[in-house]
Amino acid sequence: MAEIFTGNFTQQEPIPEDAIAAAVEVMRHGRLHRYNTAEGELSETALLEQEFAAQMGAKYCLAVASGGYALATALRAVGVQAGDAVLTNAFTLAPVPGSIAAVGGRPIYVDVNEALTIDLDDLTTKVDQAKVLLLSHMRGHLCDMDRLMQICDAAGVTVIEDCAHTMGASWNGVLSGRHGAVGCYSCQTYKHVNSGEGGLFVTDDPEIAARATMLSGSYMLYERHLAAPAPEVFEQVKYVTPNISGRMDNLRAAILRPQLKDLDRQVERWNARYRALEAGLRDLPGLAVVERPDAEVYVGSSFQFLLLDWAPDGVQQVLQRCAARGVELKWFGGAEPQAFTSRYDSWRYADVPSLPQSDRVLAGVIDIRVPLTFSVEDCAQIARIIRAEVGAVFQAE
Ligand SMILES: Cc1ncc(COP(=O)(O)O)c(C=O)c1O
Repeated sequence: MAEIFTGNFTQQEPIPEDAIAAAVEVMRHGRLHRYNTAEGELSETALLEQEFAAQMGAKYCLAVASGGYALATALRAVGVQAGDAVLTNAFTLAPVPGSIAAVGGRPIYVDVNEALTIDLDDLTTKVDQAKVLLLSHMRGHLCDMDRLMQICDAAGVTVIEDCAHTMGASWNGVLSGRHGAVGCYSCQTYKHVNSGEGGLFVTDDPEIAARATMLSGSYMLYERHLAAPAPEVFEQVKYVTPNISGRMDNLRAAILRPQLKDLDRQVERWNARYRALEAGLRDLPGLAVVERPDAEVYVGSSFQFLLLDWAPDGVQQVLQRCAARGVELKWFGGAEPQAFTSRYDSWRYADVPSLPQSDRVLAGVIDIRVPLTFSVEDCAQIARIIRAEVGAVFQAE
């Protein structure tokens, strides 16, 4: 009898007990707002920022309400204004162009290639069209970051990194989020740490950090931060930077601090699952796994493969056959966006360009969530099911 997978693709692990205890402590004292501190108390949010800055080797860190808020704040803090063009990935998710729209900017999409990263040749041809690149490390795939930074530095383009899927990853030993001027992370439930909602923002630039802090709604209480620039820097920006409230609160920060300490162990666990999927899907006619470069340390919290140049009907059959066996696959090539699979031509508030290379790749991208509630054996089973169903449809084609 054909095996059926019974796991739940959206079920995350519970919040760890030490994080629950820290959250209960905050609720007991009631000081949830980050600036509501007792005499001599350091808030959970300020401590989280201090710890995350140290973990990332960054001078400054700001904790905010969401990853998308961190992106929009970064765009504002580096000076993007209404009407400005912003380069970004054609393959990413809706909060990325959404953050550009939030500041009145205009996205200019750069192609995706078969490695599922930004196409650096296309970037080279478009780099003079904007002053800022909002680079999304979509689904955890890092491009050649050394070459990307050379292209952007030579053109005077400021890089903001969207690390929603790469917290804990690195390129050539440099942590994701530490190549560009700003690194933005999401702490939303489906990401590498889970506070329901939440975002983190790191930079080494004192003015960007001060502007972001003012933007997030620090009133004039920025001296209560532990990973912010000196008060003199705030003097230069405090009257000319609007408050666009989006602070993190102490409850979320309390939940996040223990999880961040455990990040490296979690990365190992994700990658063991990723490797089981990869091994189970290698060398199958019609299916391409995405090869990961040696320079990349990735976090396998999701897995992608390509059914490149397949007819849409064939892909649909694979999706249906896998779903019937309990394996939920997401396809970026569907005619209509579903849940998290929207793509550049779904974002019609901005100009929709013609990007044939991206269309070809997106038409073949299949995406699988890998929650840590799956065991390594679960992932091997998922791979067996996909292998059998892709094989059956491919042979029948
Ligand atoms: C690629 C990418 N960037 C940014 C975000 C924004 O994160 P948040 O949901 O915390 O706003 C997400 C969230 O799904 C995402 O997938």
